[in-house]
Amino acid sequence: MSELRTPQAGDDQAPDIDVVALLMRQHGDIRNLFDEVEQSQAEERRDAFRRLVRLLAVHETAEEEVVHPFVRRAVEGGEQVVRDRLAEEKSAKETLAALDDMDTDDPKFMPRLMQLRTEVQEHARAEERYEFAHIRRSTDVTNLAAMAKAVKAAEAMAPTRPHPGVESATANVALGPVAALVDRTKDAVRKAMGKS
Ligand SMILES: [Fe+2]
Ligand SMILES: [Fe+2]
Repeated sequence: MSELRTPQAGDDQAPDIDVVALLMRQHGDIRNLFDEVEQSQAEERRDAFRRLVRLLAVHETAEEEVVHPFVRRAVEGGEQVVRDRLAEEKSAKETLAALDDMDTDDPKFMPRLMQLRTEVQEHARAEERYEFAHIRRSTDVTNLAAMAKAVKAAEAMAPTRPHPGVESATANVALGPVAALVDRTKDAVRKAMGKS
């Protein structure tokens, strides 16, 4: 199923100097990873789901550290917009945590995954409409690039395809729990923004 593999940062030549373009690409990668999980079985499904969980965790962490604070500050009505997005993210995280405890072969896994997919897609659409659409109008290219750098630092924590030659079970043990990944991602984002 190699044609299903979602590409990752560095696979294309896009310079990623615009935070909005980068986040839109991640929304696309997330959508494609949902497809991969749905269309695969057994070990391949387990592996695709691990990659989806990791990308979702680092993407949402980057948005919480970079995008929401900017929108709250710089976009009119931003306070309310961010409050609504955070409520959606909280709900999606709860579904994600429930799924993360479940085996991908569990008969209840796919219905839960579809629920998560719906929540994540509605959330992504709301971000694109109420946040991303206003970001480029509210700042300059220098700041768009600075924010992109911080989101890229987060993305480096979540390769969207497996490392060649590494058995996924071994890789999963080495990768550790999602909470630790979120902490490492926060550190990386803050460092990239010059906050620590
Ligand atoms: Fe988000
Ligand atoms: Fe998002």
